[in-house]
Amino acid sequence: MSERRAGITALGRYVPERVVTNADLEKMVATSDEWIRTRTGISQRRYVEPGTPTSELARKAAQEALDRRGISAAELDLIIVATVTPDTIFPATACVLQDKLKATKAWGFDISAACSGFLYALTMGAQFIQNGKHQKVLVVGADVMTSILNFEDRTTCVLFGDGAGAVILEPREDGTGLLDFTHEVDGSGACFLYMPAGGSAMPATHETVDKKLHYVHQQGQHVFKYAVRKFAEVSQTLMERNGVTPADVDLFVAHQANLRIIDAAKERLGFPEEKVVKNIHLYGNTTAGTIPLALGTALDQKRLKKGDLVLLAAVGAGFTVGTALVRWSGVA
Ligand SMILES: CC(C)(COP(=O)(O)OP(=O)(O)OC[C@H]1O[C@@H](n2cnc3c(N)ncnc32)[C@H](O)[C@@H]1OP(=O)(O)O)[C@@H](O)C(=O)NCCC(=O)NCCS
Repeated sequence: MSERRAGITALGRYVPERVVTNADLEKMVATSDEWIRTRTGISQRRYVEPGTPTSELARKAAQEALDRRGISAAELDLIIVATVTPDTIFPATACVLQDKLKATKAWGFDISAACSGFLYALTMGAQFIQNGKHQKVLVVGADVMTSILNFEDRTTCVLFGDGAGAVILEPREDGTGLLDFTHEVDGSGACFLYMPAGGSAMPATHETVDKKLHYVHQQGQHVFKYAVRKFAEVSQTLMERNGVTPADVDLFVAHQANLRIIDAAKERLGFPEEKVVKNIHLYGNTTAGTIPLALGTALDQKRLKKGDLVLLAAVGAGFTVGTALVRWSGVA
């Protein structure tokens, strides 16, 4: 028997029904389908009905994962929700979700790591499985980005969508599960992608609302350059540390922020196209949702089977960085 590891044993997803195409956005801001597609790879994204909280998307994704696994929420030990659009600043969305799911014995908390949030939550949850303290951990990445988008700012509003994904982690002793991970933070990059107001540094006032400071603010080019460099650098580090080459990796699942960033990482790392998962054209950047949604796309396309070696990578606001090397356990 091999070492006890955290395996992903079920996956659930939820994206809202409402499809918003680039043509729809052309009616709202000075943009074009051609600009959005060529600069980002995005063709459409999903939007919630206004007022839908992140916990609702999280609940639907989580319930699907539970149903697929055939277990009740009451069996969960821990719930971790990665999000930058919590229902409220406090309490944590994990608490709201615990109540909605009736996960009666679970504790939980939120992780704020933006686009790296799901990977932070995954590696965090895995620790409790590996050390034997927990048997079933629910990890959710969910964001309602439309709640913090300025639809007068064409440089940001075209990039994001709403969505959620959830996985269940359980112990595996068959060589599968989370093998290794890396995380980094570079807080000096905070000013390049952030929401200026609404926290203790700048509490909400009429002025902050008038100045539209409760929305995503981004210096796109700076984020772009950092992401291109980091995706390759940290993925390389993780592979080298584990004696793995791109030839050994079956699937590369990167955070879906921009097709050009994914392609640059693919080329720098030397992955052939067939090993790279892409669904950004359908959903845009769903922040904490992208990695589980991309895993779902890979499953739909029958590109993931038990024993496959999967490299996950994300870069996000903070800056935050995450990678994970997973020997796929096979999901329900
Ligand atoms: C946002 C992003 C797509 C912009 O692409 P870019 O090639 O860097 O474009 P620039 O910012 O240089 O803008 C080029 C021009 O397009 C214009 N432009 C910006 N958004 C536009 C839009 N939606 N439609 C049309 N034109 C647009 C700019 O105003 C600029 O015009 P100018 O040359 O007249 O000043 C790109 O920088 C990016 O993807 N950054 C990373 C974002 C990201 O991943 N964020 C999530 C964190 S992981």
